[in-house]
Amino acid sequence: MSDAKPAVGDAIRAALLIGEPQAKLFAARRIARDWRLGRLFFDLTAPMPDAPARPDRPELLPPGRMPRRGKGGSERGRIALWHAIAHIEFVAIDLALDMAGRFGAEMGEAFVSDFLAVAADEAMHFALLERKLRALGSHYGALPAHDGLWQAARDTAHDVAARLAVVPMVLEARGLDVTPATIERVRHLGDRNGTLILERILDDEIRHVAVGAKWFDKVSDRRDEMPRELWQKLVKLHFGGQLKGPFNDSARRSAGLPREFYAALVS
Ligand SMILES: [Fe+2]
Ligand SMILES: [Fe+2]
Repeated sequence: MSDAKPAVGDAIRAALLIGEPQAKLFAARRIARDWRLGRLFFDLTAPMPDAPARPDRPELLPPGRMPRRGKGGSERGRIALWHAIAHIEFVAIDLALDMAGRFGAEMGEAFVSDFLAVAADEAMHFALLERKLRALGSHYGALPAHDGLWQAARDTAHDVAARLAVVPMVLEARGLDVTPATIERVRHLGDRNGTLILERILDDEIRHVAVGAKWFDKVSDRRDEMPRELWQKLVKLHFGGQLKGPFNDSARRSAGLPREFYAALVS
């Protein structure tokens, strides 16, 4: 049977293969909207690329070769701070798209809906940060960026439980820990607009971690495993190192990630 609607998997694959930032962000938002409005067909047979396309700029450097960013007080320091956050959000668009596109077939339509909504949020975060950089006389791509962020996706491409354990429940959860201190620093500099952007991102990221934890629970259930034990096992296996505190326990708890989960893995 043929369906006149485009396949959601084809649309996701195409968005992952866009390098140009504006075009990628528009594509992510359009897919989320089209999916919500029933304009895409639930078909995820398209293979996802091993790695998404990247723009020519920023230059990607291994984490150890990134220039030091200082505390964000100088003009250059401020630009470096917003650029680093913009890069994280840019990669987050692809991480959410890849989650939906790679694992949506086995996980179902509600899973696709959740992660396409996350992708649209990440696209909005990136747009806010790109605008912030422009207001400071810079832009995304003006500085080098960290090359490590896609590695977690590569390492967990074979298993949705591993992907959920590491991407939303370790990496995005880490964002909950560090963002409040950044908000305080930005507020201290008198940057009201920057404070509002980061507060919005923090709110959304609590939801993203919650979405990850919810689906991780379902997968554990399906596999007849205890979520906490499965999570700890997968994080040890696929996230190599131990987790670093201090933790934002209250934000993590409201995202469905209680301390019993991560306390055992603290270095
Ligand atoms: Fe985000
Ligand atoms: Fe996120």
